Amino acid sequence: MTARKIFVTTALPYANGNFHIGHIMEYIQADTWVRYQRMQGAEVNFVGADDAHGAPIMIAAEKAGKTPQEFVAEIAAGRAQYLEGFHIAFDNWHSTDAPENHELARQIYLDLKANGLIETRTIEQFFDPEKNMFLPDRFIKGECPRCHAKDQYGDNCEVCSAVYAPTELIEPYSALSGAKPVLRSSEHFFFKLSDPRCVEFLQEWTQNGEHVQPEVAAKIREWFGTRTNPDGTTSEGLDDWDISRDAPYFGIEIPDAPGKYFYVWLDAPVGYLASLKNLLERRGEDYEAYMADPRLEQVHFIGKDIITFHTLFWPAMLKFSGRKTPTKICVHGFMTVNNGEKMSKSRGTGLDPLKYLSLGMDPEWLRYYLGAKLNGRNEDIDFNPEDFMARVNADLIGKYVNIASRAAGFIAKRFGGRLGEVGSDGQELLAALRGQSEAIAAAYEARDTARVARDVMLLCDRVNAYVDANRPWELARQEGMEERLHDVCTTCIEAFRLLTLYLKPMLPAVAAQVETFLQVPPLAFADAQSLLGAGHAIGAYQHLMQRVTAEQLDALFALPEPVVEKVLPGGEDIAPTITIDDFAKIDLRIARIVDCQAVQGSTKLLQLTLDAGEGRTRNVLSGIASMYQPEQLTGKLTVLVANLAPRKMKFGVSEGMVLAASHADEKAHPGIYVLEPFPGAQPGMRVR
Ligand code: 2FM
Ligand code: ZN
Repeated sequence: MTARKIFVTTALPYANGNFHIGHIMEYIQADTWVRYQRMQGAEVNFVGADDAHGAPIMIAAEKAGKTPQEFVAEIAAGRAQYLEGFHIAFDNWHSTDAPENHELARQIYLDLKANGLIETRTIEQFFDPEKNMFLPDRFIKGECPRCHAKDQYGDNCEVCSAVYAPTELIEPYSALSGAKPVLRSSEHFFFKLSDPRCVEFLQEWTQNGEHVQPEVAAKIREWFGTRTNPDGTTSEGLDDWDISRDAPYFGIEIPDAPGKYFYVWLDAPVGYLASLKNLLERRGEDYEAYMADPRLEQVHFIGKDIITFHTLFWPAMLKFSGRKTPTKICVHGFMTVNNGEKMSKSRGTGLDPLKYLSLGMDPEWLRYYLGAKLNGRNEDIDFNPEDFMARVNADLIGKYVNIASRAAGFIAKRFGGRLGEVGSDGQELLAALRGQSEAIAAAYEARDTARVARDVMLLCDRVNAYVDANRPWELARQEGMEERLHDVCTTCIEAFRLLTLYLKPMLPAVAAQVETFLQVPPLAFADAQSLLGAGHAIGAYQHLMQRVTAEQLDALFALPEPVVEKVLPGGEDIAPTITIDDFAKIDLRIARIVDCQAVQGSTKLLQLTLDAGEGRTRNVLSGIASMYQPEQLTGKLTVLVANLAPRKMKFGVSEGMVLAASHADEKAHPGIYVLEPFPGAQPGMRVR
């Protein structure tokens, strides 16, 4: 039989935050599956990448004072510690902003266009007149049209869960600038998912029982039916998909459409292919040839929150651009902690993976625990500390590790480290263990590692019952029982090898230690059919795994230092450290307010005319009207940010900014206080 050839991915994480336990769970699940496939002789390429594009990352970078590229690179640099820490062995980690992805995304788009599946349409959207950009839904806030809760997002209300269009918000404002958004029209590009070719293909592809789990197929069926839209109207079938965003946007520019970018979700899954292509080319292999191999299976591991993208948009993009469609989409649920909060991507709280590692907790405890919980279905799992402790200490160590420690000493001390003959009861036991190999393989294949853990623990129970029945420690004290002792201990070691083989995808580091101890080459699944045999020499046994302690679990879930103590009276933490050179970039000057006027049509702004000793005056608009009457300020000295780029505002160009103090939460703590120097300062003096 020729080996299977599989290309495996996990969802590409947004490059605007570190991994949380939800990411790690998915990676462990996929890594376990990949290791199992390799033990079966499959050729696997397992790749990941950072999902670099989109408005939130662009905005976060801007806030951090970095280019998006710098921002994303810093996040990427933090990935390895998690991946190595939990033995997650991606063959490649790439970025959706890499050249391979730009090229592939544009090519796929052009192929879809040539196939008549791209259409442009003019749509109306909220635009931030201060930031000069169209606002994504989550950057528009306002009052909920149903329950009237304030400060709700543009697409749904967190208070009453209503779903609506951003245009329905009462008194909408831009979460970026506070400005009132205006409706503007713009040309957008759509992928015509409503095209009968797409609908027919997707109906077959999602429902033929081959590519998605049954519970996922059922969910998808709902999307083909009648739906209620946010604005109350209903739709049938599939909607076209808006795949473009207007500049400014951090993304991939659409061919022949200057100022138009692919929506991040268009190029994100293409990143799977880009990462693979990068890997193959670095190895000197041909990407096109690899993808053209009919044997190739393409398997994506994802969470249940991104099913639509992976079961509708992505297969359709691939199919109608003339490419290979995915073989399987493996969907998992979310992880909760202590029946508690959802550990979704946006809310990764509760169990911090780096803290776990820094406490010296064994990564394989978590790999095993999660494995023992995941059953291959799209269900949530809960991390429960007591349950964790029981599975690790009672099962993994009490049942499995102990088998080796009970037998290895006698083999070393009494039999020169060599195995002996296995008697008939031992043969029977080992045959029972070997007999489970197909069931265990099938469970791994189906990602039902809960079943693997259950079955293997039952086998451990049988082996331990055999040990208890034969009591090697008593045999060792009895005259003439040498041979039986050798037989019993050999049986235990042979059994331990089989159990290790079965657990190896979940416990790669323990398995590697066992391979050294048993002096065997890396265990493959086919080795379940053989035995070490009499005469085989084993090495010295070294303790394989510590027990988890209650203190470790307490520390893991201990709340961080009370947050209140850390929040300064100003309502925000001190910003990250900068160097003196960073500070020197800001040119602060003493300026005299030679004139100050109210601004017609604005309740917020005052118009200042400033003399900063330049032989000319500057016009500065400042949001301090709530605190000062113009005549209070005229004639005073203040501090001007003199080298700030001029900013075009609705009421004129502002050529700088005056310094003023305020609380981070201006709504709860109103008040803004303009700075004034001690007497003696003169206009034009630099503040440093
Ligand atoms: O939901 C997310 O975190 C996305 N960044 C997942 C992208 S998966 C793939 F399409 F890249
Ligand atoms: Zn509401």
